[in-house]
Amino acid sequence: MTKKYSYILAITGASGAIYGLSLLKALIEHSYFVHLIVSEPGFTVMKDELDMFKGVYNNEDKAKNSNNGNPSISNFNVKQEILNAIKLNLSPDSNIGTDAAFNSYTDMFELLDEKFLESKIASGSAKDVKGMAVVPCSMGSLARIACGISGNLIERAADVVLKEKKRLVVCPRETPFNDIHLKNMLSLYSSGAIILPLIPGFYNKPKTVRDIVDFMTGRILDSLSIENDVYERWRGYKGKYNEK
Ligand SMILES: Cc1cc2nc3c(=O)[nH]c(=O)nc-3n(C[C@H](O)[C@H](O)[C@H](O)COP(=O)(O)O)c2cc1C
Repeated sequence: MTKKYSYILAITGASGAIYGLSLLKALIEHSYFVHLIVSEPGFTVMKDELDMFKGVYNNEDKAKNSNNGNPSISNFNVKQEILNAIKLNLSPDSNIGTDAAFNSYTDMFELLDEKFLESKIASGSAKDVKGMAVVPCSMGSLARIACGISGNLIERAADVVLKEKKRLVVCPRETPFNDIHLKNMLSLYSSGAIILPLIPGFYNKPKTVRDIVDFMTGRILDSLSIENDVYERWRGYKGKYNEK
C-alpha cells in the first residue's frame, strides 16, 4: 500500500545516474509514491552510462513522450526503460521490469517533464510531498537551485521544498570542486538543504558496484528520515569484533 507521503526525485546530468535509479527503487520499495523528473542532460548521461533507450528514446519518441511538457500521455516506454535498467543493474534476480511486476512498480511513480512547470509539485500547496532529493546533482543544477532560478520543474520544485521548510537532499557529483561549486553548496546548506556528496565510504568493505550504490542510497534515505537497512552500518569496533 502506498504511504500517505510522496517524494520528489530529480535525476540531473551529472555522472552516476545509477544512484538516482537506486533511490527510485528504494523509495518505491519503502511504499512511497515518487514524482520523478529527469533533466535532458540526465537522460543523456543515463543513456551513456547505463546503455539505455536503445531504439526507444530517439528524438521522435522524446517528442511523443514529452507532449509539450504534458505528462498525461503515455511515457510508457521511458518508464519501462527505467525499470529495465533497475533490473539489469541493481536487481537481476528480482521481477522488476517483468510484465508481471510492471504495474506494481509503474503505478508507484510518475515521470514529469522538466518543462512541466504547471505540475502540482511546482506549488507549496502539494501537501503530500514530504521532501525532495536531487541525485546525482550536476554543478549546473546546483548553481541554479542555489540562486533560486526556478526555470524548470527541478529548480522550481527544489525552491518550493526549501520555502516550505521541507527536506531537500542535494547529492553533488563533480571532482575536484572549484570555489563556485563550494560557494553554491554552502549557500544551499545555509538555506536548509542537506548536501550529501556522492562520496561512498569503504568501511563496510564493498565488493561490487551495487554495494557502493547501496551505501549511498542508504545514506540518502537516512537523510530523508526514512528508516532502512539498505546498507551495512558501521557498528564500532566493539560491535564488529565482540558481537555474538
Ligand atoms: C557523460 C557526461 C557526464 C557528465 N558528468 C558530470 C558530472 O559528473 N558533474 C557535472 O556537474 N556535470 C557533468 N556533466 C555535464 C552536465 O551534464 C551539464 O553541465 C548539463 O548542462 C547539466 O544540466 P542539468 O543540471 O540540467 O542536468 C556530464 C555530461 C556528460 C555528457
